[in-house]
Amino acid sequence: MRAWRVHRYGEPGDALQIDDVEEPPAGPDQVVVQTSTTALNFNEIDGCFGRYRTVDPPLPYTLGMEVVGEVVRAGTGAEHWLGTRVVATAAGAFGAHAQQVLADADMTFEAPARLDDVQAAAFFFPFHVAHLALVERGHLEAGQTVLVHAGAGGVGSAAVQLSAALGARVIATAGSDEKLDLCRELGTDVAINYRTDDVAAAVLDITAGMGVDVVCDLVGGDTTVRTFPCVVHSGRYVLAGFSGGIGAEDGGIVPRPIIFGNFDVCGVMLSYRSDPAAAKRASGFNLFSRADGERVHAHLVDLVDAGSIRTVVGRVAPWTVLPAELARLASRATVGRTVLDWRASTTKGRRA
Ligand SMILES: NC(=O)c1ccc[n+]([C@@H]2O[C@H](COP(=O)([O-])OP(=O)(O)OC[C@H]3O[C@@H](n4cnc5c(N)ncnc54)[C@H](OP(=O)(O)O)[C@@H]3O)[C@@H](O)[C@H]2O)c1
Repeated sequence: MRAWRVHRYGEPGDALQIDDVEEPPAGPDQVVVQTSTTALNFNEIDGCFGRYRTVDPPLPYTLGMEVVGEVVRAGTGAEHWLGTRVVATAAGAFGAHAQQVLADADMTFEAPARLDDVQAAAFFFPFHVAHLALVERGHLEAGQTVLVHAGAGGVGSAAVQLSAALGARVIATAGSDEKLDLCRELGTDVAINYRTDDVAAAVLDITAGMGVDVVCDLVGGDTTVRTFPCVVHSGRYVLAGFSGGIGAEDGGIVPRPIIFGNFDVCGVMLSYRSDPAAAKRASGFNLFSRADGERVHAHLVDLVDAGSIRTVVGRVAPWTVLPAELARLASRATVGRTVLDWRASTTKGRRA
């Protein structure tokens, strides 16, 4: 089968090449998905450069986190997934940009029936991450005010919509007029260009000097530091991503503004496990349970079915142009999700 593999670290165009590799076998509690679509995730840019410590397999490795398609093989304990159309995370969070993808059943969910394969690719990560950030970690409630950074992006566009659906007042930031318009279309009450305007001052004006209850920060670094002064007393600042530079994942936050801000700083990570305690022992990470994932998924599918949220696909491209599309994502040229279409590709020796 064909797969986009990282062979050397650097720009996506230098790092990636298409290889013929073996189709993956499914181990216990795992499935193999015949790829229909894959979504680009910002972390994959850092993966090309070799600076993403969370997912750092030895070279060469197949890039890609998220897949939509049909389960064509299943290991012991996962047989009930055979033939199901799913959204899934590739096992270990790499290997998705390929004609077949190995996934843990813990990170496999039925694709929402109302969404076609392109739309489904823009559903799973954006809405699960946004829900976990806003509701499970940020405890956002109706009537509260939330600030979403990079509100026109993949996860950001989901966070804006979920906040609005919850009945919160939404302030969103974005880096261009086109993106600000999209934020407003998705339910943002006040959109701020954080490349030209002073976000903290603007937010304090909007909130009568008090600040926002919850921040969903997908950018990190200087944006985080500049946002601390506009969080309300006892508010929640959720660190969800680092599109402004992965280096900020390891530092940059000084305690003083948090101490004097009297607010909480929280993190969020999308990963569900049937046995979170085993994951804790192995990695030190606190993961959500599979039961949490099923509850969140059912809630989000209900919102899709009710028309309360919609997926935002900025662009659909053939699977053969992955490096160019990753370069567009890195250069802030995208809105919503970029989805790769694999349906015209064929696998040699497809097995059921
Ligand atoms: N916590 C989790 O479990 C989890 C899971 C998935 C993804 N994430 C994180 O969530 C974030 C969003 O992911 P995504 O895939 O949806 O990407 P995305 O938000 O669509 O990322 C691209 C956008 O980030 C903004 N941005 C701000 N500073 C930037 C910079 N220096 N360079 C490039 N872009 C910049 C740009 O929007 P503007 O032009 O409007 O600034 C850009 O269009 C990423 O940091 C990702 O790692 C976290």
